[in-house]
Amino acid sequence: MVGYVMVIYDYDIPEYDIWHMMIDESNQKRGYGSAALDRVLDYIKAKPFGASNRVTLTCNRDNIQALKLYQSRGFAETGATDEDEIELSLMIQ
Ligand SMILES: CC(C)(COP(=O)(O)OP(=O)(O)OC[C@H]1O[C@@H](n2cnc3c(N)ncnc32)[C@H](O)[C@@H]1OP(=O)(O)O)[C@@H](O)C(=O)NCCC(=O)NCCS
Repeated sequence: MVGYVMVIYDYDIPEYDIWHMMIDESNQKRGYGSAALDRVLDYIKAKPFGASNRVTLTCNRDNIQALKLYQSRGFAETGATDEDEIELSLMIQ
């Protein structure tokens, strides 16, 4: 296993949430993070838990690698923050 990522459906909002995306340090910068995020987004687009088009995640504001990856897939800051974490979201079809 080179990494891990979790998908949650928040029925209250409703929205899909991506949690704990991580690639083992020795395997980073080989494209696994991009590939994993693309597979997660494809999975969410199939709407396995509910009809929401909104995908949300939080990320440390100093985590440049992760922010670049999320922004490359269209995630944008919502303006919501929690201490050092910023919220980003993406609207999908
Ligand atoms: C964020 C993370 C998942 C990226 O995984 P990865 O397998 O290294 O990512 P990729 O190799 O697919 O690279 C994807 C993009 O990330 C960015 N990136 C990756 N490493 C980077 C680095 N050292 N510096 C700057 N940008 C970087 C680039 O935009 C890259 O796209 P590019 O190849 O077109 O330049 C990985 O660094 C990680 O697990 N970090 C620790 C845990 C973590 O912070 N998770 C995110 C929680 S919000």
